[in-house]
Amino acid sequence: MRESPSRARIAPESAPYTVRRSREQMLSDVREGLSATAKQLSPKYFYDERGSELFEEITQLPEYYLTRAERVLLEQKIDGIIVAVRPCSLVELGAGSATKTRIIIDAMHERGCAECYVPIDVSRDFLEATAKQLEADYPDMRVMPVVSDITEPFSLPPTVGPTLVAFLGSTIGNFSKEESIALLSHISASMAASDRLLLGADLVKDPKILERAYNDSQGVTAEFNLNLLRRLNRELNANFPLTDFEHRAFYSSEQRRIEMHLVARRQLTVTIPEIGEIHFERGESIRTEVSYKYDRATLEEILRVSGLSMESWMPADDASFALLLARAES
Ligand code: SAH
Ligand code: AVI
Repeated sequence: MRESPSRARIAPESAPYTVRRSREQMLSDVREGLSATAKQLSPKYFYDERGSELFEEITQLPEYYLTRAERVLLEQKIDGIIVAVRPCSLVELGAGSATKTRIIIDAMHERGCAECYVPIDVSRDFLEATAKQLEADYPDMRVMPVVSDITEPFSLPPTVGPTLVAFLGSTIGNFSKEESIALLSHISASMAASDRLLLGADLVKDPKILERAYNDSQGVTAEFNLNLLRRLNRELNANFPLTDFEHRAFYSSEQRRIEMHLVARRQLTVTIPEIGEIHFERGESIRTEVSYKYDRATLEEILRVSGLSMESWMPADDASFALLLARAES
């Protein structure tokens, strides 16, 4: 990884400043998102502590095949990837609990080089807990967590190359094409010739399978979605009546994406003290997430525009999910 000019590591002295800044950012995003004609909120706000835990529960659900498919692929392919790339450092975007990441770190260890791990995530507390656990489990590896919103420009600590940049779980699908290209362009610009990007992406498939994955029978995804309003009530003193909103998730074949919404069950007005009153008609919704589904050609095109080129395409046997390896175009 080419050296970045500044570091954005978790530093205790910067915490009050970043907390204040992230609250201001949240207020401004919520103000903008809820005053639009088609109301929307960024999915990055799902991930408070409870939201991160609920996501972990989602990964265990029978209907949510994504995590299992990616884990199987990682187990099958990781040795080949590590032999080919010979990474000494691992940078991970949207690391979360970094559970599957351990498959990569273990393989790096086995091949003799696992110097540092840089997990990047917007969810500070969850990231700190993940980093502490990894430090305890891998005492020889330097763990350098970075709290950052990856849709904004961010800087990385210098790492010992070659560096593998992992972006797993199909989190790329939660960003628009423009956001994905901006993020991947930023990554490709900082990649040295020997570095590689390892991307996990969910693939287009039968809409019934997709809709089941986002409408699970235990209601965990609904809880995950509604937790966003609980967070706004707690952190912004909003007064969303949770029982008056319902979870809706559907697949748009045209857009090739799942959309998650929170739909008002009746006409109502919500107050957020620093923003004002927000009116909802009965049936009106807030779009809380998009989750794009891909095919190989679409991913190749996104990579190309971002200054990357695909080196290897690794689809699951049932074509539900794929891993790919890409390098920066020189
Ligand atoms: N990589 C893990 C976790 C996926 S959940 C897996 O594959 O299971 C998505 C993760 O991305 C969460 O931990 C969330 O906090 C993080 N995330 C979502 N939007 C983000 C953003 N804009 N910037 C940084 N991290 C983000
Ligand atoms: C993190 N991300 C890839 C998940 C997804 O499938 O889009 C988030 C999620 N939303 C509902 N269920 C899981």
